[in-house]
Amino acid sequence: MKTLLSKFNRIVLKRIFSRDTVLLLEWKKDTHATSVAEIKPVNPENVADARSFQSEKQIRLFSRFLTRGNRGFYAYLGNACVHRSWVVIGPGKVSLHKFFSIDLKPTEVFIQYCETAPSARGKNIFAHVLNDIARQFRDKRVLTSVDLDNTSSRRSMEKAGFVEVDRIKIMMILGVRFIAHDLQ
Ligand SMILES: CC(C)(COP(=O)(O)OP(=O)(O)OC[C@H]1O[C@@H](n2cnc3c(N)ncnc32)[C@H](O)[C@@H]1OP(=O)(O)O)[C@@H](O)C(=O)NCCC(=O)NCCS
Repeated sequence: MKTLLSKFNRIVLKRIFSRDTVLLLEWKKDTHATSVAEIKPVNPENVADARSFQSEKQIRLFSRFLTRGNRGFYAYLGNACVHRSWVVIGPGKVSLHKFFSIDLKPTEVFIQYCETAPSARGKNIFAHVLNDIARQFRDKRVLTSVDLDNTSSRRSMEKAGFVEVDRIKIMMILGVRFIAHDLQ
């Protein structure tokens, strides 16, 4: 019942009225953020390692990401996979919000689909992964995004050297979308 209600909220109520703010961030500084985790690129052999904290549906999604040419990064504590982050390499379209996307230039990459297993949170793993990915793509403009109210994620991004470059206010009223940019 709870799942049905949240699906209804996502699909219908959000179109009737919703108001969200999303931040676009760019990597500006190598902070050398680190952690005790080991970061490995995702490939068809290890893609299912994230089963330790992700559903089968998500593993299938990650396999599709690989087929599309997206780059994935898993972080491990010992043998256990405890974090995943994915990178889209431009050109291409990426969604910052259900109702807002941006076009990536060939000189840009975008980090998305990031999550740390609940048991491994607060160990600096996301900050480490973000900084590590940004270093690998340092010849490009490295972007990511986060909801304004996601304070944990914003903190990791800040620790990894990401700085807010745009603030997008997305309002939906009776199916009509309004977008406002607060450029920094
Ligand atoms: C956001 C998220 C990826 C951060 O991962 P992480 O590996 O715990 O990140 P960090 O260790 O760098 O911690 C970042 C901040 O989270 C907060 N935090 C610390 N312990 C925490 C815990 N046990 N649970 C939740 N948040 C915690 C702290 O504010 C911390 O900042 P600090 O180091 O200055 O204290 C993780 O909370 C998560 O997976 N959340 C759900 C999915 C999500 O929001 N993904 C990101 C979308 S952009």
